[in-house]
Amino acid sequence: MEAPIWVSYAALWLATVALLLLLSTNRRRRKLNLPPGPRSWPIIGNFNLVGSLPHRSFHNLSQKYGPLMMLRLGSHRVVVATSVETASLILKTHDLSFASRPRTAAGKHTTYNYSDITWSPYGPYWRQARKMCLTELFSVKRLESFEYIRTEEMNSLIKQLFSSNGKQIALKDHLSNVSLNVISRMVLGKRYLDEGEENSIIRPEEFKKMLDELFLLNGVLNIGDWIPYIGFLDLQGFVKRMKDLAKKFDRFMEHVLNEHNKRRATSEEWVARDMVDVLLELADDPNLEVKLERHGVKAFTQDLIAGGTESSAVTVEWAISELLKNPGIIDKATKELDLVVGRRRWVQEKDIPSLPYVRAIVKETMRLHPVAPMLVPRIAREDAQIAGYDIPKDTRVLVNTWTIQRDATVYENPEVFSPERFVGKNIDVLGRHYELLPFGSGRRMCPGYSLGLKVIESSLANLLHGFSWKLPAEMKADDLDMEEIFGLSNPRKVPLVVVAEPRLPRNLYDL
Ligand code: HEM
Ligand SMILES: *[C@@H]1O[C@H](CO)[C@@H](O)[C@H](O)[C@H]1NC(C)=O
Ligand SMILES: *[C@@H]1O[C@H](CO)[C@@H](O)[C@H](O)[C@H]1NC(C)=O
Ligand SMILES: *[C@@H]1O[C@H](CO)[C@@H](O)[C@H](O)[C@H]1NC(C)=O
Repeated sequence: MEAPIWVSYAALWLATVALLLLLSTNRRRRKLNLPPGPRSWPIIGNFNLVGSLPHRSFHNLSQKYGPLMMLRLGSHRVVVATSVETASLILKTHDLSFASRPRTAAGKHTTYNYSDITWSPYGPYWRQARKMCLTELFSVKRLESFEYIRTEEMNSLIKQLFSSNGKQIALKDHLSNVSLNVISRMVLGKRYLDEGEENSIIRPEEFKKMLDELFLLNGVLNIGDWIPYIGFLDLQGFVKRMKDLAKKFDRFMEHVLNEHNKRRATSEEWVARDMVDVLLELADDPNLEVKLERHGVKAFTQDLIAGGTESSAVTVEWAISELLKNPGIIDKATKELDLVVGRRRWVQEKDIPSLPYVRAIVKETMRLHPVAPMLVPRIAREDAQIAGYDIPKDTRVLVNTWTIQRDATVYENPEVFSPERFVGKNIDVLGRHYELLPFGSGRRMCPGYSLGLKVIESSLANLLHGFSWKLPAEMKADDLDMEEIFGLSNPRKVPLVVVAEPRLPRNLYDL
């Protein structure tokens, strides 16, 4: 039986439509309107244009290609946003399209297959993690309940500085001891790292080395992440170091979890004392949308320790460095402290809102020395359109806050350290003002910002209240080197060495 004539007409018509559709999608693909950027080489792409301080290389490139540019690094497209407008398009208007993180070897090997918060892809697991941060780990109540820990550790810093007795000290070592102790006690329940502690399984110096290594390995440009088909060669040896490091951390985390579980099993009226307790309790909750496994608890714990330790120490070190170059600012700050706090006691967290000038110094420090100059990389979960340009799915996205925070169209004399620019202005660091984004913004914004700010502001306030700061006698302020190194935290290249002299009545240092 012959098919009716309309069937073959219909078939012909369908074929034509299909062909046209195919052609038009092909044409659409060819006509993608990508953001401007430099021409790229085969295989390496634009890697030849990226130096040892990538945010500065991108800064220079953006002067040429504009506030939204596209590069090719190895096999990946990378979009870099470098203006208030483009940053807010990415972090606010299109936040949801860019709310995931690229998969990297560091995420895989050092955070239990992306089970932590920082590197976990967008989805129910990560959303639940953020909810835990908001309602449990960093709730106002929880942070307040730990205030005594922050005060005790601050006091021990003051005592140490006092006993340095006018000798030269490497400030950052003291600062990172404070933040490591604060964060260990809040997260793990005790210092854990005290020498002489009976079941101390790791020496403090070794643990600090592990944290440094973690930061380094999370910040490096690992070739395998960019040119995947040679990844297996591990030419730089980073993947091997990641695996070694992960083993060391795991041994520590296992010990911590076992101890916590033992206390839980044996004490009668158990209540959560620290963040690991809270996480273990959550892991037992049958009503969780996504089960939190043991390796998830370990990954979160490691995130909290890593995120909380280095960032505040680095920021305070930068602040003191800038102030040593600007003694007039120290005078103004100490006047404010004398007036608001007075010379008969130390600064408490409740004083901070009444210290606008000290807070302005912190903002100005974070403006010029952001801990994460390009935030943490994001990735496009879907095709998106930004400022008329196409950003295809899987494009990696960087927001170069280093450039934005030095933008002369936003800040007058951007290279000058001047806290005055923030005094009386309604600009905060909470991710609402795109000209100042030290903690990022949007769904992926730093969940630890309130803790980080508390530690930075009260350390700096007390350091200025309690001590006069001087460079070693043989050094002039102009000689103070302000270079940085790239890692995940952008610290000073040359650690700051200073002399601290007490400026309050001696009995106050008897803590
Ligand atoms: C001076 C202090 C701190 C600074 C400047 C800082 C900065 C940042 C930045 C820029 C991001 C990336 C935001 C983005 O991608 O848009 C981030 C993410 C993160 N921070 Fe912080 N941070 C600080 C303190 C802390 C503390 C105290 C903790 C925890 C104890 C913490 C835990 C995290 C975590 C878990 C993420 C990943 C969030 C996610 O991917 O969803 N940070 N931080
Ligand atoms: C950026 O440009 C400035 C001025 O031209 C130059 O001094 C600097 O070395 C460049 N930096 C990088 C990382 O390319
Ligand atoms: C990560 O996941 C892969 C497969 O899903 C598994 O083979 C591997 O053992 C996991 N690695 C870690 C560190 O959990
Ligand atoms: C930091 O803490 C470690 C271990 O508790 C100690 O050995 C070291 O001397 C401390 N460093 C400073 C600068 O206080």
